[in-house]
Amino acid sequence: MIDRSRRALVSDTTDVKLESRLEEQETFEPPKSFVEQANVTNPAIRTEFEENWPECWERAAEFLSWDREYDSVVDAANAPQYEWFTGGRLNASYNCLDRHIEDGAKNRAAIKWEGELGETRTYTYGELLNEVEAFAAALREMGVEAGDVVTLYLPMVPELPIAMLACARLGAPHSVVFAGFSADALATRMQSSDSEYLVTCDGYYRRGEALNHGQKVKNGLRNVDHDVESIVVDRLGDESHLSFGDGTHDYGALVAEHEGTSVPAVSRDAEDVLFLLYTSGTTGQPKGVEHATGGYLSYVAWTAHAVLDLEPTDTHWCTADVGWITGHSYVVYGPLALGATTFMYEGTPDYPDRDRFWKLIEKNRVDVFYTAPTAIRAFMKWGKEYPANHDLSSLRLLGSVGEPIDPHAWKWYYKHIGGEECPVVDTWWQTETGGTMVTTVPGIDTMKPGAAGPALPGIDARVVDADGSPVASGNAGYLVIRNPWPGMLRTLYGNDERFRSEYWGEYSDPDEDEWIYFPEDGAKIDDDGYITVLGRVDDVINVSGHRLGTMEIESAIVDVAGVAEAAVVGADHDVKGEAVYAYVVLKNGEEPTVAMRDRIVESVEDGIGPIARPEKVVFTSELPKTRSDKIMRRLLENIANGEELGDTSTLRNPDAVDTIARQVGDD
Ligand code: PRX
Repeated sequence: MIDRSRRALVSDTTDVKLESRLEEQETFEPPKSFVEQANVTNPAIRTEFEENWPECWERAAEFLSWDREYDSVVDAANAPQYEWFTGGRLNASYNCLDRHIEDGAKNRAAIKWEGELGETRTYTYGELLNEVEAFAAALREMGVEAGDVVTLYLPMVPELPIAMLACARLGAPHSVVFAGFSADALATRMQSSDSEYLVTCDGYYRRGEALNHGQKVKNGLRNVDHDVESIVVDRLGDESHLSFGDGTHDYGALVAEHEGTSVPAVSRDAEDVLFLLYTSGTTGQPKGVEHATGGYLSYVAWTAHAVLDLEPTDTHWCTADVGWITGHSYVVYGPLALGATTFMYEGTPDYPDRDRFWKLIEKNRVDVFYTAPTAIRAFMKWGKEYPANHDLSSLRLLGSVGEPIDPHAWKWYYKHIGGEECPVVDTWWQTETGGTMVTTVPGIDTMKPGAAGPALPGIDARVVDADGSPVASGNAGYLVIRNPWPGMLRTLYGNDERFRSEYWGEYSDPDEDEWIYFPEDGAKIDDDGYITVLGRVDDVINVSGHRLGTMEIESAIVDVAGVAEAAVVGADHDVKGEAVYAYVVLKNGEEPTVAMRDRIVESVEDGIGPIARPEKVVFTSELPKTRSDKIMRRLLENIANGEELGDTSTLRNPDAVDTIARQVGDD
């Protein structure tokens, strides 16, 4: 363990000197104390993977126990729907639970949880398996079979990973809907995936207040056309979970009833779907990203080992909500596949005070901490005294994910949370990639704040121009991935065509059977191969690390009576990264009143959720459009950011721009 107790002795003057030294420093070597114990320390690993591709991926598959060995590592016959570890059979729940118990980990903590009000729960691997089996038995009795999609609409409570693992045990793909999403968002996802089962809860706590999740569920279910069987977790400890009406079951009663039932883990084909996770894209409809059992689980286990450096003895805290991919991969499947302890916290970082996270790290002796730049920026704003008052010496590695982290925030994190003794991994990846793709391997790579890092071993990431030719180092271009990898999505639920066009349409050459994945991010690459991700180049914005589709927000706005047209863009925001700016044109005769603004905000909250709430609603008489009638979102972004306006000569209505800019300025 690293001794950082001396940090408290550092005087303020030394601090200022350190601060300015750090600000000038462009690269950082991994701390020696870290390297000495790291999981991956051989720099030759990249060459080894490259020379031995695709067999190198057997190394990922070796992290799992297979019921049947696979016949081939990758099958490209149906590219770009690549198949991984074909012929292999396994069960994800068995890999996350039973086999660790067989290896003697029965009494090791699998999940440690703290509620916002301070209550705690620990599930050992033995206890977790018991509850997963009991719940799987209940689901089975209800009729859930391999292949049935079970929707999980739960906040950060242990029942969420338990339900995920119970589904995995039966071979039923889960579809987790982030609890912060609205009733409409729940209904759309359940409709789209034909999901007839729902696991949810009555409420949960935010800043000390109980949120009425149950009401959202009831509203959502009204818009689902087919019958749904619901199971409700009693989170609030009152009777409200029983008020869901006929056809609903009490989670606690079901688990008690099936306690002690053994449910064999169903052996699944490596290519069988493990889960669906809906995410935002260019159109108004979220897309159901489909991940397969063998490839996904191998990839998250391997990356949790190589990048997060996880050991079975570690307590890992990934602060992401399990409702997003980061939570799936690095709260649940990655850490549990490796037999580590995963820590979950229900609430916000500033409740009851701004040191809640640091208290939790101290109390739980967290080894690896993985969070988002938006949180780091908030911590910086609140001040270094909050972490300084806690013993963070248990930390060994820090991670960042979800959006670009600027060098200033990186260095603050490195110094004030890591005490300059923990490597920081800035991990670039997406819902679609399953696990991290571009980042430093912490035991071998030099860190360059601002740049995520080189591509991981076995990943061929490049930065190209619009024609697909490499861009000169340092110039902006588009990020592309050339070879497939085990954690990649298999398709979009029920829409192979959209899968092909969305990700493989831009740069691939199907006639030559050359497939290139386009993640829709802009990037630049330095001479040393380090990649800086610049952000989305499609109509997706990133608010506090949450991926939102501008079209989805726009469609919620035009649902409001009296609204004629809307355009949504992301404006720079010092904590959230991006904030939602909505430009709205009203129908003739409508007034831009406060009430109208409120209705717009409410409609976005109802359609998507409070995370998509517009920071600013700008009423305007028209939107800037090209002659072919496309809204020029780039100009609206410039206006929102108070930037120089780019070329307006291609506009059909150049005057509109000045008017809008004035309106934003006046507001
Ligand atoms: O734009 C990139 C950004 O988040 C997008 C993916 O969002 P989502 O599918 O919700 O997954 C988020 C967590 C993996 C990417 O297309 N992004 C993610 N990580 C980074 C990032 N941008 C810059 N640096 C990162 N480390």
